[in-house]
Amino acid sequence: MPQPQLQVLICQSRTCLQQGSALVAAAFLEWQNPDWETIKSGCLGQCGNGPMVLILPEMVWYRRVQPDQVATIVERHLGRGCPGERSEGFATQ
Ligand code: FES
Repeated sequence: MPQPQLQVLICQSRTCLQQGSALVAAAFLEWQNPDWETIKSGCLGQCGNGPMVLILPEMVWYRRVQPDQVATIVERHLGRGCPGERSEGFATQ
């Protein structure tokens, strides 16, 4: 069985959880795909900007992700293999 090409890490540590990262993780898990793996991670070292999402191996960060933005990340980034738009509240770093 082929390994996923990308890993989507969603911080589930204290600050991000307070900012709603459990719902963000649940939203990503609704989009199962063999091309990427969804991982509930520990602290990603970006506390206060959460919910934080990190896509590996590209090292693309999304900050302040809301559950209703997950479909856009999946379609624009994971679906096409390129980072999403840069904008406040939904940005790569
Ligand atoms: S708690 Fe999420 S980055 Fe630290």
